[in-house]
Amino acid sequence: MRKLNVGLGKNSYDIIIGENYTEKFAEYIKEVYSGNNLFVITDSNVHEIYKNKYKEMFGHFKYTVYVLKAGEKNKHIGVMQGIYSAMIKAGIKRNDIIAAFGGGVTGDIAGFAAASYLRGIGFIQIPTTIISQVDSSVGGKVGVDLPEGKNLVGAFYQPRLVLIDSSFLNTLSDRYFYDGFAEIVKYGCICDKALFNKLTDIIKNISEKKNNREYKVKLRKKLMENIIGLIYRSCEIKKEIVEKDEKERGLRMILNFGHTIGHAIEQYTDYEKYSHGEAISTGMANMAKIGEKKNITEIGCFQRLEYVLKGLNLPTDIKYPEHEISEIMKRDKKSVNDGINFIFLKEIGNAEIIKMNEREIFE
Ligand SMILES: NC(=O)c1ccc[n+]([C@@H]2O[C@H](COP(=O)([O-])OP(=O)(O)OC[C@H]3O[C@@H](n4cnc5c(N)ncnc54)[C@H](O)[C@@H]3O)[C@@H](O)[C@H]2O)c1
Ligand SMILES: [Zn+2]
Repeated sequence: MRKLNVGLGKNSYDIIIGENYTEKFAEYIKEVYSGNNLFVITDSNVHEIYKNKYKEMFGHFKYTVYVLKAGEKNKHIGVMQGIYSAMIKAGIKRNDIIAAFGGGVTGDIAGFAAASYLRGIGFIQIPTTIISQVDSSVGGKVGVDLPEGKNLVGAFYQPRLVLIDSSFLNTLSDRYFYDGFAEIVKYGCICDKALFNKLTDIIKNISEKKNNREYKVKLRKKLMENIIGLIYRSCEIKKEIVEKDEKERGLRMILNFGHTIGHAIEQYTDYEKYSHGEAISTGMANMAKIGEKKNITEIGCFQRLEYVLKGLNLPTDIKYPEHEISEIMKRDKKSVNDGINFIFLKEIGNAEIIKMNEREIFE
């Protein structure tokens, strides 16, 4: 078992990373929660696969399971009322906690429920997708989408504990398995060339022709052989950034590499056509290309990035009308009066924040 600690003063917490250790969950939970009324929030897909495991995971705790409809489309403000009512019905009090059991959508919603119910109760993260194990479960950004845009309502609210068990990843569809690697590639791009090179090497060493069935099977197996190290390093990078800039006043913005365009693509396509990882994959590739054109990014970065993303079965060239994407980016909460803070790569492993307006970026 590997452990990291996110050092945020009284809001510090551990991230436990391991494989096949669900029977130890209750012991870890006991360390951060002395009560006996756990409110578990999960989604319909995860519930279907893992409902027989709850007893093992939550041991002696009394627990109530609340099942959300799966999918980003359901990460909206309207789901909150049902959650709050169920929590009241289950007798959840100030000292009780929520366990978010699922992907980033479940974690973001459950975290927001914890941040707002009775003006804030504790919560823990049990992430089950790559995205949530390497990114969304750490750092305390919680929230829901509005029709006007993604993550427009939310809070910075840290969990008390993050329990990452890589064996949950075995039941992910290929689509969502590869999807999450977009965030790992992101970490490599913005601050860890060695991590980027490691993914490049894994892809290079698969001899099968890309995108056929055997390639995907072999690659997934190889990535799973390395998964604990990849999750650990990703969480370590995120933790270090969050410790320096919890509320995203500066440095933390680099985690948005590829996300300004990516979020706009997600919204433009109504959160249905592309997953988060697919949209930011194209967002990152586009930013590298734009950066090269504007002489900000070292020539060759785009090509290297495209090789890795395509190798991970992610799209790098989703087409969109630039004027519409510009409009959406302008409305994004990250846009400030005098422009949007875009994240550019200087080179692989090194990012820079540059303010530009939403039209300038495509010029
Ligand atoms: N808070 C943050 O800092 C942060 C960071 C990155 C992403 N996010 C958010 O996370 C969301 C994307 O996360 P996601 O990709 O995990 O989405 P998700 O929660 O929708 O999960 C993806 C799909 O996988 C299914 N699933 C989850 N675990 C499974 C398992 N173990 N086996 C089989 N199926 C499983 C889900 O039901 C869903 O259909 C977006 O809303 C994004 O904005 C938040
Ligand atoms: Zn993301």
